[in-house]
Amino acid sequence: MQVAIDGPASAGKSTVAKIIAKKLGFIYIDTGAMYRACTLIAKKEHIDYGDEARILEAINQNKIEFKSEAGEQKVYVAGEDVSLAIRTPEITENVSQVSALKGVREKMVELQREMAGSTNVIMDGRDIGTTVLPDAELKIFLVASVHSRAKRRLLDYAEKGIHEDLAKIEHDIAERDYKDSHRAISPLKKADDAVEVDTTNMSIDEVVDDILAKINAKMAK
Ligand code: CDP
Ligand code: CDP
Repeated sequence: MQVAIDGPASAGKSTVAKIIAKKLGFIYIDTGAMYRACTLIAKKEHIDYGDEARILEAINQNKIEFKSEAGEQKVYVAGEDVSLAIRTPEITENVSQVSALKGVREKMVELQREMAGSTNVIMDGRDIGTTVLPDAELKIFLVASVHSRAKRRLLDYAEKGIHEDLAKIEHDIAERDYKDSHRAISPLKKADDAVEVDTTNMSIDEVVDDILAKINAKMAK
């Protein structure tokens, strides 16, 4: 079974996808982490975030891998654990530029389909239901107001010891949503057959239960 979860920044996609994957024994694939890793590679190699040819070359030379350690999913680039380094505000602010590059998207989509293989998988991102797994049995489009998403992100940063201003985060989230929704190649868009879930006033547990019920309903068919 394939479950696709798409939606804008900080809607809760990865948090709920991880919990559901654990409960059901599905593989979880965080596609946003892959575009973040590409952005980090460009930063480390001092490549302009719009230089597609050089970024692609650098991605080919720096393998991106997911590894499970003590029940946690870690992201590695060229053998180095970059799980924290890909979550900084600098990477977050520039990832939409890198993820809009055609060659980068083609390479990542190919990798994502390879990773999904033919096992039970839950994958989150922006274009999973529309492009990466168009035949997924269940497609969820998670949304929430910009204000509530910014408050969640502020707490996330605080836990990592990063101090950011709420108004700046709100501005950055709105800007990233705009860029992700307006790019030419596979923009953020609800698939026609996706179910929208508005999590503005929902706890994580409520969202998990709601999606689990939808998965169970599909499996029972
Ligand atoms: O966690 P957050 O919502 O901040 O973002 P993410 O899921 O880590 O994704 C980071 C960025 O990667 C997004 O803003 C998109 O620009 C890009 N992305 C994408 O283009 N396609 C995907 N399938 C996943 C992420
Ligand atoms: O993956 P995505 O960017 O969509 O969001 P996330 O990183 O899973 O969630 C962003 C933050 O919102 C996390 O700190 C979650 O714990 C929190 N969250 C929440 O407070 N309430 C929800 N219903 C969902 C997520």
